Amino acid sequence: MKKYSTYARAHAASLADPAAFWLDAASDLHWHRAPKQAYELQPDGTARWFPDGELNLSYLCLDRHVEAGRAAQTALIYDSPVSGQKYSYTYAELRDEVAVMAGVLQARGVGVGDTVVIYMPMIPQAVMAMLACARLGAIHSVVFGGFAPHELAIRIDDARPKVVISANYGIEVHTRIAYKPLLDAALQEATHQPEHVLIWQREGEAAELQAGRDADLAQCMRQAKPVGYVPVASNHPLYILYTSGTTGKPKGIVRDSGGYAVALHYSMQSVYNMQPGEVFWAASDVGWVVGHSYIVYGPLLYGCATLLYEGKPVKTPDAGAFWRVIAEHKVETLFTAPTAIRAIKKEDPDGKELAHYDLSGLRALYLAGERCDPNTLHWAQEHLQVPVVDHWWQTESGWPMVANPMGIEALYVKPGSASVPVPGYDIRILGEDGHALIAGQEGFVAVKLPLPPGCLPTLWNDHTRFIESYLSTFPGYYLTGDGGYMDEENYVYIMGRVDDVINVSGHRLSTGEMEGLLAEHPAVAEVAVIGIADSLRGQVPLGLVVAKDGYHMDALQLEKELVALIREKIGAVAVFKNAVLVKRLPKTRSGKILRKTMRLLADGQHYSLPSTIDDPAILTEIHDALAARKIGQAFEPHHLIP
Ligand code: COA
Ligand code: AMP
Repeated sequence: MKKYSTYARAHAASLADPAAFWLDAASDLHWHRAPKQAYELQPDGTARWFPDGELNLSYLCLDRHVEAGRAAQTALIYDSPVSGQKYSYTYAELRDEVAVMAGVLQARGVGVGDTVVIYMPMIPQAVMAMLACARLGAIHSVVFGGFAPHELAIRIDDARPKVVISANYGIEVHTRIAYKPLLDAALQEATHQPEHVLIWQREGEAAELQAGRDADLAQCMRQAKPVGYVPVASNHPLYILYTSGTTGKPKGIVRDSGGYAVALHYSMQSVYNMQPGEVFWAASDVGWVVGHSYIVYGPLLYGCATLLYEGKPVKTPDAGAFWRVIAEHKVETLFTAPTAIRAIKKEDPDGKELAHYDLSGLRALYLAGERCDPNTLHWAQEHLQVPVVDHWWQTESGWPMVANPMGIEALYVKPGSASVPVPGYDIRILGEDGHALIAGQEGFVAVKLPLPPGCLPTLWNDHTRFIESYLSTFPGYYLTGDGGYMDEENYVYIMGRVDDVINVSGHRLSTGEMEGLLAEHPAVAEVAVIGIADSLRGQVPLGLVVAKDGYHMDALQLEKELVALIREKIGAVAVFKNAVLVKRLPKTRSGKILRKTMRLLADGQHYSLPSTIDDPAILTEIHDALAARKIGQAFEPHHLIP
């Protein structure tokens, strides 16, 4: 596509004539039917991108590169300190594996529009399964391996997969987590039943297979024939990715094929400043959007080598783990969550581990998933001596909305800001009444419609919820769910969620869902779950619980049961470690629980007493209950406005 000399020009061009801008970007991809029309406006104000185009993501990520002479180039590097394995696949090898896995699926009746749930650890077969679905025009839905059976069951019931693909186990540091019993439990709970379950048996104890339903994926692959790709319409869903909303039911974010491919390809150059052939490492999990966009589709579309890391930033084996991987695989760009850097910094505050590795090839570090506190930013800048780019996006957008566009022009960094709107995004800060606020004023972060390519067109089987959640609050705008402000130079400062979503170690979770689950306990009369500041994880959930009158149960025992309940229903990944019994919860006179006030109180921040509070003394009770347990206190001021 046309190269813009400055960010300002590129951004202005993208908003002045989105059709021309994105058709130009689309021309960088190989389409089976090239789009002539950029987008089609929908009655709800959103756009369907490249409506007359046809393409296939598996072809674009694999076959296309083989045809273009990259057959022998590395496509996927697998580095697994937890299993002691390290190997890579060339583009030709990965294409062949994916074609065979697609053959296995096709033989089981999977075709265009069928859904497949993938519940897998960070092994190459997870990536292959995604690309195999894409090859057939099937819609994958990857469920993060750290989610408990209940969460998996909810997703299975919503996505209604023909096939579920899983593995015998995942590895958390030194512990094997058997996935198959978790999957079996989820299938017991789910109403919908897949026709087939395919299990990748990793070395070691094999999972038990249920005759008639389950099959050994490796064995199936040995018997299967490779199959070709099926071109699909640009608007054909590539995947559903469930993310936490404000209720117990997660939102099934739908991703189209064409818009997503164009946006990711564009971002690899303009945001991440990559060249084909270079090594891109997103240290995330395939179960999150970062994994979808920047472990799998983005780097492969662009002809980079992508790195799949099965391990942690610390403990596998130490705080030098990331630096080893960068040096060993010659990683040009690392993308991770600030929490990973905080974990490293906690164990190795002076960055001594860095001295053992040659990081001269590292060009930049990108951080997203949660707010990047300036301390973490400065530590990474000082120790890595490369640009550290905080950038902001979400599952819904699928690719960065605010970033320092390093591939167009490296702008100066303002700590606390994720920098500027990425070309394609018209970001506005709106007040309660929907009016645009002036620079420096904090409000709702919104995007003026239509959204650029790549962003969600709808929610799976629930267009009404899509409109209600994102479009109806401020007509003509997409509501991101984040609060923040912009300065005079259009730098965007994201201050945190304005809804009941929290970010724990960069993982998005719903406090509303936790409240719903806790409320089901027979001893619980009322409950509020809030996200409080945590120096390692950014936020952790805290439950404040009122027990039912006359329910005689030891307080500590009840708290323990509630903690166990969230672990069992959502998973350890929720890091729900504290449920505190209180006599009552602070409310407005109309009965609304004052969650934000409690959060500010727990974080040790200033809060003004709402004039509508029914009894201010309740806040003192909450304060004392938390102080007695030493829970809370911010690790640094949350608010960054100077
Ligand atoms: N399968 C099973 N269990 C999992 C899991 C998985 N895929 N992922 C996490 N868990 C479990 C962990 O074992 C842990 O369980 P425990 O309570 O029994 O110890 C719990 O969930 C919390 O896990 P985690 O958040 O990974 O905590 P940790 O203490 O092991 O590690 C960090 C802390 C900060 C190092 C880690 O959270 C991290 O690397 N975060 C980066 C996150 C990230 O990349 N996010 C993606 C957005 S870009
Ligand atoms: P997810 O959908 O899981 O990617 O989570 C998206 C949410 O994470 C956003 O809505 C923000 O609340 C938060 N987030 C992601 N990146 C950033 C960032 N760079 N700064 C602040 N918050 C972020």
